Amino acid sequence: MRAALLLLPGILGCCVAYNVGLPEARVFSGPSDAQFGYAVQQLINPKGNWLLVGSPWSGFPDNRMGDVYRCPLRPPAAECEKLNLQAAVSIPNVTEIKSNMSLGLTLSRNAGTGGFLTCGPLWAQQCGSQYYTTGVCSDVSPDFRLLGSFSPALQTCTSFIDVVVVCDESNSIYPWVAVKNFLEKFVQGLDIGPSKTQHRPRR
Ligand SMILES: *[C@@H]1O[C@H](CO)[C@@H](O)[C@H](O)[C@H]1NC(C)=O
Ligand SMILES: *[C@@H]1O[C@H](CO)[C@@H](O)[C@H](O)[C@H]1NC(C)=O
Repeated sequence: MRAALLLLPGILGCCVAYNVGLPEARVFSGPSDAQFGYAVQQLINPKGNWLLVGSPWSGFPDNRMGDVYRCPLRPPAAECEKLNLQAAVSIPNVTEIKSNMSLGLTLSRNAGTGGFLTCGPLWAQQCGSQYYTTGVCSDVSPDFRLLGSFSPALQTCTSFIDVVVVCDESNSIYPWVAVKNFLEKFVQGLDIGPSKTQHRPRR
């Protein structure tokens, strides 16, 4: 007891006490299977004060793309509204795998713009048959518009080739069915696109 008394002045000297007003408390609810409330962040813009709520499994169970809600602190009866950022997240010139990316897992204030940053760590980039799960982060303005997205460790797909396959379907060299099966498998493994691997079968 004496030890506690001796410690008290030291503790009190460093702290400022305050009360939490429970009768005025706002409780925002959302779908628990979408992990509503996994991350929270306050935001102030000219339209008022908001609570941002991350819901990284939004879309559960089929596709946990995730999203962020904005919850107005006034008027007291107002509901949270989903921002639908997941549809706007995009990195140009990259084959994106956005399924289950879990956007809204992190929320942080962006002091530079007054808006916020939110990330989806399971966003992946596809290069041919390779997947790089580098994650994606999006920059959102104070009026909740998605300004841009970036991935911290974007890969350069290096496997682009130009292929011309010349086939002889006369069966004189090898049974045609086996050749066709091989070609089908081969082409499925290529990352085909205007600025990627291009192929042209010749008969
Ligand atoms: C996303 O996750 C669900 C499990 O919730 C899984 O069934 C589904 O196959 C996943 N989708 C992809 C494209 O990985
Ligand atoms: C995407 O690719 C196109 C065509 O290759 C190019 O003109 C454009 O600058 C690229 N955009 C970015 C953001 O790299």
